Formats: sequence, structure tokens, C-alpha cells
Amino acid sequence: MEQKQNSVYIDGCFDLVHCGHFNAIRQASLLAPRLVVGVNSDEDIFITKGPSILDINERCAIIESCKWVTEVQRDTPYSVSEEVLDLYNCQSYAHGDDPCITSDGIDICEKLREVGRFRMIKRTTGVSTTDITGRLLRLVCRDMAEVPKGIKEPPKQKFLQTAQRIRNFSLNIKGESSIREPTASDTIVYYQASCDLYHPGVIERLRRAKEQGSYLYVGLWSDEMTRYYRGDQFPLMCLQERLLMVMACKYVDDIVIEAPFIITEDLIKSLNISKVVNVCSNDDTVLPEHEKVD
Ligand code: CTP
Repeated sequence: MEQKQNSVYIDGCFDLVHCGHFNAIRQASLLAPRLVVGVNSDEDIFITKGPSILDINERCAIIESCKWVTEVQRDTPYSVSEEVLDLYNCQSYAHGDDPCITSDGIDICEKLREVGRFRMIKRTTGVSTTDITGRLLRLVCRDMAEVPKGIKEPPKQKFLQTAQRIRNFSLNIKGESSIREPTASDTIVYYQASCDLYHPGVIERLRRAKEQGSYLYVGLWSDEMTRYYRGDQFPLMCLQERLLMVMACKYVDDIVIEAPFIITEDLIKSLNISKVVNVCSNDDTVLPEHEKVD
């Protein structure tokens, strides 16, 4: 009973995840000590929104890597009811301030509000899966003679970063800073990447990089650098969005913002780096041979 009172449930498709999703999870984690995150089933997403791009295993892997999550429930129903909350032993349901209507036209949040089991959080403006899908479509269509109507213009970044938001993302579930100073006994690892389009492959590389030591710096490339090395259509997400997503990851201790492509002696010395890891399988890191320390 006590656990239930101390538990909040949030759910979502978490397909093509972005910093707005992580901001929702972060806000929900402030409402109770135990945060259960439900990842909607492929079947339910198909019925309500059409096919998801990432499957249930991929979407769960992303949510499991988030530092504010206590527990992940997979294959959850799109429609949340009191029974669903009871099943996951949660007192309330958290959702952004956008409508959440089932395929039968039922307003889930309204029903739960009536019984005092709804907690509203603020939806993050300027980021959406629809936007990312548009950017992906531009990428796919870049070689086509005729670009489909509506996606001719380069996407405009609508996301507004604030210092307060960066501060909020630096806190862990206990409200302490998870961006910590390395200690003398730490083995400091450096991994550089664009971390664009946050998928399970990116998370797996971050996990493997962290395994190489006890403290992980992620060197995050600027938008210009990413564009230069990966092509005109990249990055799909701007630096400010990528920064927040990497900050939400439990394997990361600190981030070098707009990291240089060439890892110099100076950088290694100033950050006291013991290992530069190259954990890429195919895309993210393209270090020249002589830069690979691991
Ligand atoms: N959410 C948010 N800010 C956004 C997008 C989503 O706070 N910009 C919140 C939603 O309100 C919900 C949770 O994230 O509580 C999971 O949302 P999900 O169902 O995965 O996504 P959508 O609401 O469909 O949003 P999007 O189209 O961007 O995926």
C-alpha cells in the first residue's frame, strides 16, 4: 500500500524519442520516489497511431537507459485506466498537458482526474516525433528528383534551450547533480560522437564506453561538425536537443559540448583522460587510426 502511494506511472510510445519525452519522464520522477514508465505495445501503437518505427525491444532499451526511471513496464496498453495503475502498483498517472484520447474517443486523463489519480506535467514545446519524422523524410528523399510537397524547406529548429532546463537535466532522481567531478581514483574514459537520432545503438555504445572505466565524458559534436562529417542532411536533432538526451542517460558523467573532432594531447591532459574509446560499429565515430587509443 505504501509503495503504491509513493508511485507514479507515466507511459508513451517513446518512438523516435526526443528531449521532450525525457523532460516528461524527468518531471514525473519529481512527483514520487518510484517512477514506473510504461512502454506501449507495438499492437496498441499500430491501432492508435499507425506502425511505430522502433519495436518494443528498442523502445524499452531507450527508456531503461534513462536516469530518472525506477522501473520499466513493457507492452503496456495505450489506454490507461485505474486497473492499469493498480496492476503496476501506482497511485497516479502523469501525462503532458496535451489531449490523450483513445481510439474510442475517451479522454484518459479526464477519467483519471475525476477519481483524483491524475497529475499533469508540462509538455515541452518545439520538439515532436512528427518533426523528427519530417527530417527523416527529407533524408530519405534527398536523392529523389522530386521532393514530396511539404518537406522542401530545411527544417527550422523550434526548440528553445534555457540554462534552467540544462540545470534540471543535470539532476538525478534524488535531486542531486549527476554531472559529477571525476575523483583521483576514477578511470576517465572519453567517447566522442554526434549522438544524433537517439536509438538503442547509440545507447549501447555509451554503455560499452562506460564499461571501459568509471567515469565517462561524452564529446558531443557541434551541428556544423556533424554536418561536415556526415553530410548536409545531418544532424537530425540540433546540439541543444542532443545535449539534453545525452544528459538523461545513466551512463554519462559529463559532456564536452561542441567537442573537437581531433582529440589533441591538450584535450587528453586537461580532462585527465585515461582512455579514448572507439566503440562504433559502423557510423557514429570516425576517428582516424592514430586517434584510436583503445
Ligand atoms: N511529451 C512531452 N513533450 C513533448 C512530447 C511528448 O511532454 N514534446 C509527453 C507526452 O505528453 C506524454 C509522454 O511525453 O506524457 C509520452 O508521449 P508519447 O505518447 O510517446 O508521444 P506523443 O505525446 O505522441 O508526442 P510525440 O508526437 O512528440 O511523440
